[in-house]
Amino acid sequence: MRSSGLPLVVTVGLLALFVTPPAAAVADDALPYQDPSLPVATRVTDLLGRMSLDDKVGQMTQSERGITTAADVTAYRVGSILSGGGSAPTPNNAAGWADMYDNYQRGALATPLQIPIMYGIDAVHGNNNVQGATIFPHNIGLGATRDPALVEQIGRATAEEVTGAGQDWTFAPCVCVARNDRWGRTYESFGEKPEIATAMTTVVDGLQGERLNGPASVLATAKHYLGDGGTSNGTDQGNTQINEAELRAVHLPPFVSAVERGVGSVMVSFSSFNGAKLHGHKYLITDVLKGELGFSGFVVSDWAGIDQLDGRLGFTQAEVATAVNAGLDMIMVPVDWKTFVGYLRAAVQSGQIPMSRIDDANRRILTKKFEMGLFEQPYADRSYASSVGSSAHRALARQAVRQSQVLLKNAGNVLPLAKTGGKIFVAGKSADNIGNQSGGWTLSWQGASGNTVPGTSILAGIRAAAGSGTTVTYHRDGTGIDSSYRAAVAVVGETPYAEGEGDRTGSMSLDSTDLATLSRLRAAGVPVIVVLVSGRPVDIAAEIGNWNALVAAWLPGSEGAGVADVLFGDHAPTGKLPVTWMQSVSQQPINDGDGKTPLFPFGFGLTYAATPTPTPEPTTPMPVASCQVRYTINDWGSGFTGTVALTNTGTAPLATWTLGWTYTAGQTITQSWSARVTQIGAAVTATGESWNASLAAGATASFGFNGTHGGSNPRPAQFTLNGAACAAG
Ligand code: GLC
Repeated sequence: MRSSGLPLVVTVGLLALFVTPPAAAVADDALPYQDPSLPVATRVTDLLGRMSLDDKVGQMTQSERGITTAADVTAYRVGSILSGGGSAPTPNNAAGWADMYDNYQRGALATPLQIPIMYGIDAVHGNNNVQGATIFPHNIGLGATRDPALVEQIGRATAEEVTGAGQDWTFAPCVCVARNDRWGRTYESFGEKPEIATAMTTVVDGLQGERLNGPASVLATAKHYLGDGGTSNGTDQGNTQINEAELRAVHLPPFVSAVERGVGSVMVSFSSFNGAKLHGHKYLITDVLKGELGFSGFVVSDWAGIDQLDGRLGFTQAEVATAVNAGLDMIMVPVDWKTFVGYLRAAVQSGQIPMSRIDDANRRILTKKFEMGLFEQPYADRSYASSVGSSAHRALARQAVRQSQVLLKNAGNVLPLAKTGGKIFVAGKSADNIGNQSGGWTLSWQGASGNTVPGTSILAGIRAAAGSGTTVTYHRDGTGIDSSYRAAVAVVGETPYAEGEGDRTGSMSLDSTDLATLSRLRAAGVPVIVVLVSGRPVDIAAEIGNWNALVAAWLPGSEGAGVADVLFGDHAPTGKLPVTWMQSVSQQPINDGDGKTPLFPFGFGLTYAATPTPTPEPTTPMPVASCQVRYTINDWGSGFTGTVALTNTGTAPLATWTLGWTYTAGQTITQSWSARVTQIGAAVTATGESWNASLAAGATASFGFNGTHGGSNPRPAQFTLNGAACAAG
């Protein structure tokens, strides 16, 4: 929700002080598009009818803040401004951002039609551009939680911190499905399987809220459409060389879900599909995304993405025409946006782009601006400024850190660590390094090592968790360790990176600094507990035999105390691998079901050995909980992908679950994930994998499958859970 600026009576009094009066209440002589009581479609049509070609071209232009002034916005009718990673105002705080936003907005309201701007930023793990904001775990850690409700809460908190800094649009979530861990954006993915990202599209609900003009609602962006995580060799902006069936089965489902949830925008991928650049792919953008999926929001390019269409530096009028005719509605032209304005205008005037395409793009963009309430309340809503970095949000982030930890090894149950007594040694380059634990997209595009943002380092979390009577000694490289310590915690892993800078074409092992530290700790003869801070699996098979325990911490963000919560047992580890963990880098790409033997399989994760209590022989049949099933399919031709969300709506937990249904039109399941699905004739049975075998009361298990059919694909009439009928979702 935005602010309307000063109340009318004060505005009139101060009019002389404003270059342009802020948006006033609806005047008696308001034009239809200025009347919020009218349907949005009516307002859009009225406004479109009043717009010149320059107005329409401007709305399709997104320029970078560092290259754009408020006067530019007025002169060129620019419709949107963005901040590239790390592009921030001075001071870089909530008020500084809101002041900048309002300044641009006044520029927009100085145009004849007063069409407000939208401001886009990459708030991809909190409002990570703003100094002092809460930095949440990156998506790969959230994927390890398998907790869509938590991710929705994080979306809501992020939306509040984005609103608090005056912005109204985030280029998130990345619903990319990372299929090769060499990819530098693996950590921006929720995992290697579509149903995790599909389940986590709840973040869209969190970001956008119940309605786009609701409190702290921020427009979300599903990105990067389509197949960015499936490129050959994991090359960022590379070529996804798979058939359409696999593209649809693996990379499309999260977009289907995001569209179903009403995501306001979709960002196109830099990558190519079998050699065809997505930024010019009319079939996938117009026919599939807008047609088949029914996406009614707007499509935005990636950063100067249209420049890549002809393989030469810069962009041409022809590339502008190709991208817009393919279905792109707003073009992110960070720098040379004035040239873009000229090319787009000329392309329309020459007939390269029909006006109908321009009007469709404007209708999509303006519909979102009306739905967001920008015409009524164009200015920053500063009432959320106090939410930026709030203790409540930091507590939520700490919970997410706890739930994202994946325990991969725990020899002799060395974990959890006792809180009292003796001495604990902490070492490693990422123990006291909040920049490393936050990763890329933190204050700057690439992120940086060091004490970059306020929060709690993993070391500080350990110190706080260790009770009195326990000495915690820290040395970055392990100097000073000896056998008098009861344990050594080594926090090691990757230093920050983003996008292609993070592509790993060679080794994916630990660096020499980490290996030296670990060797020094091991030589002391004390139990070594490794905490791995990384954006993806690391090649550790050769070293793990020397470690007593291993926790994958991923990129936890500003609240490192969540790691200590698990190390000391305040929270038993519950995380499950969202990606398959290689035995060797030579296995990349390695994904569940591909027949390769991993070090740790997808879905793996240990917890702490509870005190064994005798399991009473079941004297009564296993309790059958009531249940609800959400069955969705993405159908094309004779193939389809099915996704099932099974909720135990009973009050009793289920130690195991078996979901059954019967197909009636010859459907045949060909592969499945996150559940063991078997079919005998028309009867289908699904049971949980080792890591989702049980189903607590109120919990939901999601799984997916591919299948074929003979032409029709009706939904099964009924589902049974452990023999009892389920309600349909
Ligand atoms: C970047 C990324 C994209 C981001 C955009 C704006 O290159 O590919 O994810 O949203 O540019 O920063």
